[in-house]
Amino acid sequence: MNKITIAIDGFSSTGKSTVAKQLAKKLNYVYVDSGAMYRAVTFYAMQNGLISDNDFNSEALIYQLSNINISFKYNKALGFAEVYLNDINIEKQIRTLEVSSFVSQVAAISEVRLKLVEQQKKMGRDKGVIMDGRDIGTVVFPAAELKLFMIASAQTRAERRFQELIERGDKVEYKEVLNNVQERDYLDSNREDSPLVKAEDAIEIDNSNMTLDEQFNKILQLVKMTIEDCE
Ligand code: CDP
Repeated sequence: MNKITIAIDGFSSTGKSTVAKQLAKKLNYVYVDSGAMYRAVTFYAMQNGLISDNDFNSEALIYQLSNINISFKYNKALGFAEVYLNDINIEKQIRTLEVSSFVSQVAAISEVRLKLVEQQKKMGRDKGVIMDGRDIGTVVFPAAELKLFMIASAQTRAERRFQELIERGDKVEYKEVLNNVQERDYLDSNREDSPLVKAEDAIEIDNSNMTLDEQFNKILQLVKMTIEDCE
């Protein structure tokens, strides 16, 4: 069967990674969470004193970019690849609200994007890849055979993210999660370099009122149709 490239973009907490993981398992494709890479760079900046309260030393981060090596290693028990920063597993540390509150500023820096996009393109060279993020269908894989653009209301998304954080044991308020979701929507959509926009040929999926099963089946159908069209 022909292997294709699947690009999934959309606002924060629209369930992109959930469906991407399900599809990767079903199709035996590689799943790449591009957001984890921007989160890893943000985590590096926090660890190295480049971010404190509301001060962000972007020049120092740009200068230190060559010290940052991001990789993924498949975790069989979890069923997906975890992210590593300079060979240290940081999968759990990058999911905090603190990282979320700085990541969009880091992701707006062109030098950061250049480095990560180059790596992402390499990861997709052999097809059979599903990547989710903000600019996958527009910048990373403009020729992807299937592009999805996921949307859901801000309240639905904040509720989902709030539940995830609470289940992890993080102490967060719903209101601050909602604020973060809305702030990132704004920053990601309005930055100059590779803003979040729906690619012209992307299929929009609003999952506000869909169960996970409904969403998966609908998208799997689209994947099957796309693969047939390519044969
Ligand atoms: O999972 P969630 O929706 O919270 O976001 P994510 O996919 O982990 O991405 C975190 C942040 O990284 C986004 O808010 C964007 O600022 C940035 N990002 C990006 O600029 N380009 C991508 N391809 C992926 C993420």
